[in-house]
Amino acid sequence: MTGELAATEELGRATGPHGEVLLRRRTTDDGGVHLELVVDGVFAMDDVDTSTERLLATETLRRCSGDGLEVLVGGLGLGWTAATVLADPRTAGIDVVELQPALVGWAARGLLPSLAGVSDRRLRLRVGDVVAALAAGPGRWDAVLLDVDNGPGFLVHESNAPLYRPAGLAAALAALRPGGVLAIWSSDPAPELLAELAALPGATDAEQVLLPVQRDGRRYEYAVVLARRGGQRSVGSAGGG
Ligand SMILES: C[S@@+](CC[C@H](N)C(=O)[O-])C[C@H]1O[C@@H](n2cnc3c(N)ncnc32)[C@H](O)[C@@H]1O
Repeated sequence: MTGELAATEELGRATGPHGEVLLRRRTTDDGGVHLELVVDGVFAMDDVDTSTERLLATETLRRCSGDGLEVLVGGLGLGWTAATVLADPRTAGIDVVELQPALVGWAARGLLPSLAGVSDRRLRLRVGDVVAALAAGPGRWDAVLLDVDNGPGFLVHESNAPLYRPAGLAAALAALRPGGVLAIWSSDPAPELLAELAALPGATDAEQVLLPVQRDGRRYEYAVVLARRGGQRSVGSAGGG
């Protein structure tokens, strides 16, 4: 947060099977205006500094070869990762899977500045659980970008816990085309997740990129943990792994 809290304006609030989602605008006494997302009572994010949400996209896509890239992003949040994937001309299609129906509706109404006015046929935004999407799509994507919690050590939904266990990570890896890249955002360095990914059969190039961020006079260290599915991407890949 920059400056003291001066006022908040609720832009949307809804309750569904996965709890409450709240989108609000916060104005600070130093004139800053920021969007804030609270999911199931847990602060999910704001847009004071979206550099690491965008780096999740750029760090992943720069490890992908070729063009015609098919990308999965889970979840939507304030849309910065998705918008950054769309900004890469090599992106042929992007599936954004978001658990909260209300958030998808607010995006469609233009309430998320990152995607406001975006009318792009490559963007497929849908309501769903990314865990199910991963299980349903073996060998489908060149990149899978996951930012559904504050990290494996700070879950927004307890139901996401299996995603970070070996079977969940193996499903995410299997959802990639050969040579594809899996990336997971975390609000803390995640050495255990890195070790899990490195130990997965069929995974190569496991690594952690540390992302220092300065907020409110404090230094935070966020991270993106990545791994590649072994094998070579076939030229003009159009699916199937
Ligand atoms: C921190 S936000 C994502 C921020 C996003 N990277 C951005 O750039 O704005 C996390 C989002 O994941 C969603 N989410 C949580 N669990 C999910 C799941 N299992 N499947 C799909 N979306 C999920 C939340 O509702 C929330 O919108």
